[in-house]
Amino acid sequence: MIEFRNISKVYKMGEVEFVALKGVFIAVQKGGFISIMGPSGSGKSTLMNIIGCLDTPTEGSYYLDGENVSGLTFDQLSTIRNRKVGFVFQNFNLLPYASAYENIELPMLFNGKKNTERKRRVNELLEMVGLLPWARHRPTEMSGGQQQRVAIARALAMDPPIILADEPTGNLDSKSGHEIMDIFSRLWKEGRTILMVTHDPAIAAFSQSTIRLLDGAVQENGAAH
Ligand SMILES: Nc1ncnc2c1ncn2[C@@H]1O[C@H](COP(=O)(O)OP(=O)(O)OP(=O)(O)O)[C@@H](O)[C@H]1O
Ligand SMILES: [Mg+2]
Repeated sequence: MIEFRNISKVYKMGEVEFVALKGVFIAVQKGGFISIMGPSGSGKSTLMNIIGCLDTPTEGSYYLDGENVSGLTFDQLSTIRNRKVGFVFQNFNLLPYASAYENIELPMLFNGKKNTERKRRVNELLEMVGLLPWARHRPTEMSGGQQQRVAIARALAMDPPIILADEPTGNLDSKSGHEIMDIFSRLWKEGRTILMVTHDPAIAAFSQSTIRLLDGAVQENGAAH
């Protein structure tokens, strides 16, 4: 489903170039649950951004569902992203002045979903993450774990087959972190493909296998859990 062939990413800052990824080959099957580990600065977020079509590689080919997306325009990439990928971030990235309900509804508003369909889906997602009673609360009134569950519901709004999570438990205590991983495990069993960056071996243990990056290169691929 996700295939990198010799992907490199070079950031240019004026005269200075920084090689964030070099010669990366990876392949993730549909329905896989993969964790990505490696020291700070090793290229984990860069890799995730390319997988999620938020950024493009400098070199190499990226095949998503058999389609080479490395040469697409920004608009074409955003269409693919809307259809295929849901993002979860370490800092939740929720709108602070919108309710849990409104945060989850937003992607559907952007994508022109009908009112009745939006309402049905938001309630279904709130129930799935155990937050129906919190629908009208704002993120500022919720714990980190609850905010992350809202963020997961929002990521699922358009029913994407792929979930990308960059340190989803990085700001959570271990109990809340494990609750988040229980939700991810359920999403995986439903058939979604999940890629997750983590520093925590106990969190990586929820995945099927780990890709380890070092200085922008794959150091280890496929260490099973
Ligand atoms: N937009 C950018 N412009 C220039 N350099 C960048 C940019 N984004 C990332 N980098 C550099 O690329 C390298 C890899 O960054 P990346 O964010 O992918 O690392 P990471 O593995 O996610 O680290 P962390 O664990 O700290 O989140 C870093 O050295 C970083 O400074
Ligand atoms: Mg990062």
